[in-house]
Amino acid sequence: MKYYFAPMEGITLYPLRNIHHEIFGDGIDKYYTPFLSAHHNLRFKKREKRDVMPEFIDGFENYGDVIIPQIMANRVDTFVWATREMWGLGYNEVNYNLGCPAATVTNRHKGSGLLQDTEYLDEMLDGIFNELGNFVSVDNADSTGCSDQHRISLKTRLGFYDESEAEELMKVYAKYPISELTIHARVREDFYQGKPRIDAFKRAVEIYRNAGGKADVCYNGDINSVEDAKNIDSSEVSAIMMGRGLLYNPALARQLKGGKALEADELRQYLKRLYEEYALYIPEERNVIFKMLEHWAFLHVHFEDSEKCLKAIRKARSKGEYTAAVNNMFASCEFV
Ligand SMILES: Cc1cc2nc3c(=O)[nH]c(=O)nc-3n(C[C@H](O)[C@H](O)[C@H](O)COP(=O)(O)O)c2cc1C
Repeated sequence: MKYYFAPMEGITLYPLRNIHHEIFGDGIDKYYTPFLSAHHNLRFKKREKRDVMPEFIDGFENYGDVIIPQIMANRVDTFVWATREMWGLGYNEVNYNLGCPAATVTNRHKGSGLLQDTEYLDEMLDGIFNELGNFVSVDNADSTGCSDQHRISLKTRLGFYDESEAEELMKVYAKYPISELTIHARVREDFYQGKPRIDAFKRAVEIYRNAGGKADVCYNGDINSVEDAKNIDSSEVSAIMMGRGLLYNPALARQLKGGKALEADELRQYLKRLYEEYALYIPEERNVIFKMLEHWAFLHVHFEDSEKCLKAIRKARSKGEYTAAVNNMFASCEFV
């Protein structure tokens, strides 16, 4: 089984990817970037482009196969443009976002908005693979930059309103030479709530296979512990993608591969290195602290009776206050 760090907007940016890889990297097979919007003007926003620039990648030997840029698009030409940009930067795989549930996204027929209209989705994929699927050998890459080392994967949900929509979606996906199909076992209307629809996920994989779908399948949704992962059948899927589970426990993938559980000292080092890396990325100290609080919202679960210490971390407004409050958390609350 392979383990992936899920794309998370505003969170799985290069500082987190670099530092997670530095300290816990052995466990993760792929890191997905938050989505980059492929705009009609064929430009990325500056901060989105920055997140995939190779000069900010640190410590990855073969980043082209380990870091996967995710693209959000609702037109063939914008997706194709964005994909070629990524291939030009040395990334071998791009992932197509068909799962984002935000109304601002779905209203524009993007993310999971595309799941409402399978006919259009089919046309999109047909157009994309017609343009990009004509892969030539690596030694013989043509002017498009296409080569047989290049891959397109999808990240989808089971439907927009209802899991029964998965049937038609899986039949569409099975028609195209995608490299991997990640299924978040929810529908759009679930957003991130409620239990993942495991039975519907299994049915979807079956439909995909029966329709001739050959891509590797990856499961996503609420894998927060070693126990959760045991429920995923390795005969059906070859990878598990985790988002919040890795924010709660950055060592989860290592543990799933038989390694040791998270230790206090390495968590401390992780937090220290994250702070340093965020400080290079974000100009204002207060905002660096806010960024660290996003992690503490998950990480506090490792400390017993931590309410008071956590409150002090949340109240910190300078690096000095923040560091003192974190030191106090490690000194006063039992690590579990
Ligand atoms: C804050 C946040 C941001 C997210 N951003 C993205 C994104 O940019 N692209 C994407 O495909 N999914 C995104 N997701 C969905 C996650 O990749 C993942 O599918 C979801 O969190 C369920 O997995 P989990 O239970 O392991 O966290 C986001 C989720 C959250 C909570």
